[in-house]
Amino acid sequence: MSAVVGYGDCCCRPLAEENLEQVLAIEQRSYEYPWTHGVFRECLRAGYCMWGAFADTGLAGYCVMSVAVGEAHILNICVDPDHRRSGIAIQLMHNMLDVAREHTADTMLLEVRPSNRGARALYQTLGFRRVGVRTGYYPGRDGREDAWILALPV
Ligand SMILES: CC(C)(COP(=O)(O)OP(=O)(O)OC[C@H]1O[C@@H](n2cnc3c(N)ncnc32)[C@H](O)[C@@H]1OP(=O)(O)O)[C@@H](O)C(=O)NCCC(=O)NCCS
Repeated sequence: MSAVVGYGDCCCRPLAEENLEQVLAIEQRSYEYPWTHGVFRECLRAGYCMWGAFADTGLAGYCVMSVAVGEAHILNICVDPDHRRSGIAIQLMHNMLDVAREHTADTMLLEVRPSNRGARALYQTLGFRRVGVRTGYYPGRDGREDAWILALPV
């Protein structure tokens, strides 16, 4: 696959360390428990697949995925609040499915908070099915929250 892929209104391309400030700005606007700059940098250095979705205005979203022994694991997907509900996450996920196929993965896995209705709707649209639960996986305001494990054949 080419290193720049156009899907609809944005184009997806691999991220590098010089993109991390923009990634962090979106991350911090989006999550109550955001990843740090160091976590993103280690993901890049570990060779994880990190792709950005670029709109006319710059970075609009990103996704981090690891692939090993036939399984692609989405570790983070996030879209700038100013660009949501315009199909960016769907386009990023289709891009990551292509990348997973290139790595000969046969399954894509991810975790989601049951309370994250927007993300659950996104994954449902893509055809993910719940295959398990990690009890108390996430930190939360009222104690821990479970993670639902979702899977999709690649
Ligand atoms: C979840 C997230 C990635 C979705 O990004 P997005 O670019 O807005 O999603 P899309 O526009 O591609 O949405 C595709 C479909 O998913 C569903 N969807 C996405 N966000 C939704 C929401 N907030 N409420 C209901 N459905 C939603 C809809 O079916 C939508 O299609 P539609 O807009 O035609 O109805 C984004 O809200 C986000 O970054 N949230 C914060 C980080 C996060 O929670 N990441 C997921 C962790 S598991």
